[in-house]
Order: sequence, then structure tokens, then C-alpha cells
Amino acid sequence: MGYREVYEGWKADPEGFWMEAAKAIDWDVFPSRALNDSRAPFYEWFTDGMVNTCWNALDRHVGAGRGNQVAIIHDSPLTGTVHKITYAEMLVRVAQLAGALKARGVGKGDRVIIYMPMVPEAIEAMLACARLGAIHSVVFGGFAAHELAVRIDDAQPKAILAASCGLEPGRVVHYKPLLDGAMAQAKHKPDFCVILQREQEVAKLTPGRDLDWHEFQYGVEPADCVPVEGNHPAYVLYTSGTTGAPKGVVRPTGGHLVALHWTMKNVYNVNPGEVFWAASDVGWVVGHSYIAYGPLIHGNTTIVFEGKPVGTPDAGTFWRVISEHKVRSFFTAPTAFRAIKRDDPKAELIKNYDISCLRALYLAGERADPDTIIWAQNALKVPVIDHWWQTESGFPMVANPLGIEELPVKIGSPSVALPGFEIDILDEAGHKLPPDTLGAVAIRLPLAPGTLSTLWNAEERFKKSYLTTFPGYYETGDAGMIDEDGYLYIMARTDDVINVAGHRLSTGAMEEVLAGHEDVAECAVIGVADELKGQLPLGFLCLNKGCNRPHEEIVREEVARVRNQIGPVAAFKLACVVDRLPKTRSGKILRGTMVKIANGEPFKMPATIDDPAILDEIRTALKPMGYAKD
Ligand code: COA
Ligand code: AMP
Repeated sequence: MGYREVYEGWKADPEGFWMEAAKAIDWDVFPSRALNDSRAPFYEWFTDGMVNTCWNALDRHVGAGRGNQVAIIHDSPLTGTVHKITYAEMLVRVAQLAGALKARGVGKGDRVIIYMPMVPEAIEAMLACARLGAIHSVVFGGFAAHELAVRIDDAQPKAILAASCGLEPGRVVHYKPLLDGAMAQAKHKPDFCVILQREQEVAKLTPGRDLDWHEFQYGVEPADCVPVEGNHPAYVLYTSGTTGAPKGVVRPTGGHLVALHWTMKNVYNVNPGEVFWAASDVGWVVGHSYIAYGPLIHGNTTIVFEGKPVGTPDAGTFWRVISEHKVRSFFTAPTAFRAIKRDDPKAELIKNYDISCLRALYLAGERADPDTIIWAQNALKVPVIDHWWQTESGFPMVANPLGIEELPVKIGSPSVALPGFEIDILDEAGHKLPPDTLGAVAIRLPLAPGTLSTLWNAEERFKKSYLTTFPGYYETGDAGMIDEDGYLYIMARTDDVINVAGHRLSTGAMEEVLAGHEDVAECAVIGVADELKGQLPLGFLCLNKGCNRPHEEIVREEVARVRNQIGPVAAFKLACVVDRLPKTRSGKILRGTMVKIANGEPFKMPATIDDPAILDEIRTALKPMGYAKD
């Protein structure tokens, strides 16, 4: 069957399509139906099925004879080690860890925060929670103590699992002081913390609160899998929204299993037993879906890579990993390829490796620019597949489904809608726009199984953020168009979210931090174009009347504040002081216009602008920073 038939087959009978896909999963109780629309526009999938994620990721593979297959390869150029763990070993380790958590009272529905670097124990922690029906929330290691505290207060975890340290090129990231700082700031106090002591740095444990990872597992009874309902939350993953408060995306268990399993063959074109590699981080959705869950649910070998595309030790690292571990399908963000291209423009290093095992490269997380795609095509000589998804969807919504049919690639487009997603382009009033017309990208409800069921503790915010603007649709927050052949083009965000090196960040969150400075009266953050990272945040600061401190000093303090409060991952290093911000007559800051000025792009003077002269002041402030070029 080709793509068209598969897609039309889904459209004609979505229930039948997903019930068939559900058969690939081992259920304790097979669901009697796929969709539950009794609370529309809140939809549930596989509500009356009973299932366990960890069983599907480990136990059933061991039972089926995959015990000796490598489940996880930890390849860490940052520590100079490669370490392999089989499915059978993973099962023992995860059941033991789950047993230790259970012995301390963690059970179904309890939340557990995981704050760990790229080590296999991070995935063991996720699976141990899943084994118990506990809901994990992984917090990316590049976030600072304050962001961790915000998540602790929202998720109210019973326990936190952390490591003593993470590693970045040239520096050790001291996790323990970050954890301690977060615990001091958070109102909610978890019952206990478990610390994985890494060789690179042993942390001092807080007596009565912190337990040693290995010691606390000693002598406990390994835990069995706890079956949960299809709609039971598998995890909560916080992502950036328009305001500073992150959104806790809730992932329902049954749909997550079914959808991820379906994509491994149909999109990523791997068979069980083959090696799949997503070079991302467990703290992001890509890490959840395609480092941890997807490959393991499907019986693949997954790679936990602790390194960077360049500098660890060089721009040939990715090729070394692909050839050494026989990677079939490889997934990363375009920014990683831009970094490699910058260091090794002629892709000379690839000649040192045999990467003939590789069948395709997948890119997502940000717009894949044509130069990068063409460079990757020439260097790797395999199909380069741009595909589009979000934390909320949990898996691709638009892709070139190589496992079904290789469709012609149109550079600049992530290709076509996958089953489960009917995508329309809408105007501001919610009318469907014709092909090749720019508008809001919206998806007809219900979304596919495995997509977010709600926001943690925030059903109203869920409704308001996604379901209200266009009734009957899910609002993606992206703007784009669809051509005559059904290919989608993503052009921009419709909100104040920016994308820095494939990381989704909220300018609103940064503005909240900047506004907290005692000398700052008002501020705005925009995303300016950057050759390597796609976008970079840039702040405008208006100082309080009478403040005559040197501007460089205030800028330096603000940069440090964002790094300390949000984290290094925000990559906030650019700011300037201006007298005023351009606004509409009703007081709305014209961020879009400032972006255009900074990027040197043409723009139409907004009809509602209060004082056009301010735009010249903005241009003048940006020029010395290398922006607003004519
Ligand atoms: N823990 C602590 N700090 C972290 C971190 C982590 N897990 N991840 C990143 N950081 C820090 C970095 O050390 C850097 O700090 P610095 O300001 O002191 O240099 C800062 O956060 C920004 O990091 P990053 O965006 O990774 O930039 P970089 O300059 O170190 O590297 C790239 C640039 C392009 C090589 C890198 O961004 C990359 O590999 N991107 C791939 C993105 C990706 O996988 N995205 C996932 C979505 S698919
Ligand atoms: P995240 O939730 O971090 O995965 O970020 C999702 C956002 O990243 C999307 O809403 C898009 O704005 C952007 N994005 C992801 N994939 C692509 C892609 N292939 N092309 C363009 N933008 C993308």
C-alpha cells in the first residue's frame, strides 16, 4: 500500500486504523474501542484498555528472545567510554530500581522528577516509573535551579532522581547545587531524592533527604509491572509557552505506545533488531519518544549519546558513531548539521568512516534550511527527511513516510500529513485558506492517539492555548501553507516562542527575568536570525528614570540573571539599552517589527504604531551589535 491509500484508509475509518495499530502492543486488557469522545473537545484513546509501558519496552522483548540484544549503547565522547546494555540487563536494572522506589512508597499516579544527563540511568529511571504507573517528568539538565523549582511546584513529585553531575565540553555541570537550590526555592518538598554518583564528580548527599542510587536499591524486591488505563498519564513534559509558566504536556499511556510503535517502521523505516539513533537529549520530547520509548517499544537498539556534533572531539563524531554502531536511521536537529558544516565544510571527515549502514537522515525541531539539507544529502548520500512535530504531538505529524513509500522530497517542506492528522491552513477568522496561502496551521480534532490529552493541573489553559481560537481544531502555534500536492511548509511561529538550536524557548519567560532587575522599567525579548542556531534571543531594556549606571554593566547583569534563572540553554547573551519600545496605540509591543528590523528584512509600517520615530532608535541600538544591516 502506498502513502495515499494508507492516509485515505485512516481517514475513512480512524477507529479501525488505530485498533489495528494497537494490536502491535501487548495489552493486559485489549481496549474495546479506540476513541472516547464523551468529553469532547477533550478526547481520550483506548480508555478501557489496560497496559504497561515498561512491559512493552523490556519484558516482552526478553520473553520473545531478545534478551541478549543490546537495548542501549551509551556512547560518551565526553567521558571517552562506550558501554552496552542488553534488554535482559535493562530489565533486571529497571525492575530493581522500580522495586526500590516502590519500597519508598512510590506508586501509580505519583509524580517523580528526573533531572539527569545523557546516561542510561536516565532511561532506566523513566522506565522504572512506567513500571510502577508513576508519572515521570524529566527536566532538561541545561535548565537552572529556578526552572527546576517551578516544575517541582507544579508536578509535586514524591521523589526526585538526579545525577551528581552532567558534562559539557570543558566543564562539569554541578547538578547537586542546582538541585539543592531548586529544593530551597520550591514550596513543595519531595519525600526523598536519589543521586547517581558519577565518577567525574561525587556530590555530598544531604542526610535524611538524599539516597545513593545503588545503595537504596540494595536488597529490595524487584517490582512487577503495574497495568494502567489507556489514558493514564505516562509522563508530564514541560515546554515553553507564551508566558513564563511552562506548560506541562500530559502524555497518555495507551496512545503513546501505539503511535510510537507505528512510527518506528512507517516513518523511520527500521525493523526490530536494528540500530536507531536520535542525537538529542532525554530532557526534550525527541529524547522521550526516540531515544527512550519508541526504539525500545519496537525492539530496536537505541543510542544514548553524551557529546556534541562538533568539538567532541571533532566534526566527525556523528560519522564515527554511525559507522561503529551500524546506525540505520539517524535523527537530529538541523542546527547540529549547521555546526558540522561550519567546521568541516567539505565533509572531509566523513571519508574516514564507512557509513554505508545508514539508510536515512531525519531532521526536526526547527526549520531545515535548504543549504543544510543539500549539504547533508551530498555528504551522506541518503534521503534527508525533514519532518514536523511538537512536544504536544509527541511524534511526527507531517513527514515523508519512508517505511510506507518514499515520496518525492520538496526542499523546504517536511512533506505530508501522517494518519491521525488532518491539517488545514486557516485565516484569522478560522476560514480554510486555499493552497499556497499563508495562514495558521491548525489540525482537526480529535488529534491522533498519543498526542497530549491535557496540560498538567491546567485544563483551562489547555483549552485556551490550543482549542479556543479555532473551534473544532487544535491550534499549533505555527504559521505556514500547504501546496497543491498536500506538502506543508512551516514558515514561523504565531506566538512569542522562539527556537534556539532546536530548543523551544519562551521570550515571555526571559522578559519576566529581565523585568525583575531593579534598574529596568520595561523590556522586550525577540528572536533574531542566527546562522548556526537558527534564532538567538535579543533583549531590549528601558531603564528607570534617573538610573545613570553604565549600560554595559546592566546588560552584563541581565545576561547573568537569565543564565542563572532559566539556564545556559537559553543562550541569552545579547541585549541593549533603549529609551523606549515601539508599541501600538493600545500599548502592545511590536516585537514582529523589531525582528524584521534586526534581521534587515523589509517590513510594512504597522498602521497602529504609536510613534514611528522609535523604530529608528531601535535600528541605531542594533547596528553596533551587528544587526539591522541595510
Ligand atoms: N546541561 C547543562 N548545560 C547545557 C546543556 C546541558 N544538558 N546543554 C547545553 N548546555 C549549555 C551549553 O554548555 C552552552 O553553555 P555556554 O553558554 O556556557 O557555552 C549553552 O547551554 C547553549 O548550549 P547549546 O545550545 O547546545 O549550544 P552550544 O554552543 O554548546 O552548541 C550546537 C551548539 C549546535 C552544537 C548544539 O546546540 C547542538 O548540538 N544542537 C543540537 C540540538 C538538539 O539536539 N536539539 C534537540 C531537539 S531535536
Ligand atoms: P518542540 O515542541 O520543542 O518540539 O518545538 C516545536 C516547534 O518547533 C514547532 O511548533 C515548530 O515551530 C518547530 N519545528 C519543529 N519541527 C519543525 C520542522 N521540521 N520545520 C519547521 N519548524 C519545526
